[in-house]
Amino acid sequence: MSYRICLLPGDGIGPEVTSATVKVLEATGINFEWVRHDNLGAAAVEKYGIPLPEHVIDSIRETGIALKGPVTTPVGKGFKSVNVQLRQKLDLYANVRPCKSLPGIKTPFENIDLLIFRENTEGLYSGLESYDERHDIADSIARISKAGSQRIIDFCFSYASTHGYSKVTVVHKANILKLTSGMFLKLAQEHAVKYPGLEFNDRIIDNMCMQLVVRPQEYNCIVTTNLFGDILSDLAAGLVGGLGVVAGANIGAKYAVFEAVHGSAPDIAGQNKANPTALIRSAEMMLRHLGESKAADALHDGLVDIYTEGKYLTGDQGGNTSTEEFARQLARLVSSHI
Ligand code: NAI
Ligand code: MG
Repeated sequence: MSYRICLLPGDGIGPEVTSATVKVLEATGINFEWVRHDNLGAAAVEKYGIPLPEHVIDSIRETGIALKGPVTTPVGKGFKSVNVQLRQKLDLYANVRPCKSLPGIKTPFENIDLLIFRENTEGLYSGLESYDERHDIADSIARISKAGSQRIIDFCFSYASTHGYSKVTVVHKANILKLTSGMFLKLAQEHAVKYPGLEFNDRIIDNMCMQLVVRPQEYNCIVTTNLFGDILSDLAAGLVGGLGVVAGANIGAKYAVFEAVHGSAPDIAGQNKANPTALIRSAEMMLRHLGESKAADALHDGLVDIYTEGKYLTGDQGGNTSTEEFARQLARLVSSHI
């Protein structure tokens, strides 16, 4: 038996961390049939005239699952983010980002177990932007819907209760954004009543940023709207070792796309020094999604070994091991756990 999975290496460090991840995944002994699409974003514009070609979306619809590297989005101009488009077109409404301490990675805090549930299809990322040339006024509309908010809140609470978490915090700015954040907060408060076993509270986004850098151990599951979730997940990544080690999954009712929290890291692209751990941990989430818990545990245990030993570390973790060498060493450790 083999799993047919879309492989989207992306650009920047994407192809490097993707090939490292494939090597480690294949060390589990599971057979994968990779349906690979190399051109996304700027490369797709050059080849097909658009950043996210329809055949790539169809391909994910066919396999149901994709493993994806980052794709560069031009800043302040150019095409709409391929990443945002993909999430909207496939209705991948739940962006799940676990920020959990990994034994061996030294950080200012220990035993952090944060799980961010970011609404992934609406809010300030709806793409409702306009510029009024006459008055030189710019608008970006943060449109959210009741149904869209309800489903991510529901996803977070049911995940928390089935995975043994004890707390849910809804993060908002309902004091100022009374209609959008206000609705999100109210829906979360109403939903919390159905889960008496879970401790529930809410935090205003700015206070939450301070809370997380001072007492992160007091928080577990965090549910929030798109922009706040994007920002909080990079902040939370910083608490557990940085963007090089934090995984993510975009989950919808029909499809799932597994990708790291980090972007294409143009500052280190093409130098064989990116840390593939973040995408490898996303692949671990993919294995759990497929029901391959033994292989997922082997990936996790291999990572614990490599970081605890501390001999093969990439630049972001204070070492000078290359991406390829890290993958080679990790693949060896993973196969020893199978
Ligand atoms: P970034 O996450 O690419 O990089 C931020 C910093 O973290 C850089 O110093 C980078 O070297 C470091 N870093 C990131 N991943 C790393 C890894 N695996 N190993 C070692 N160091 C790592 O964020 P930035 O610079 O804001 O964005 C660059 C581009 O990526 C932009 O075009 C952005 O739109 C895009 N992006 C794409 C995402 C996606 O495809 N899902 C997500 C976030 C950003
Ligand atoms: Mg981000």
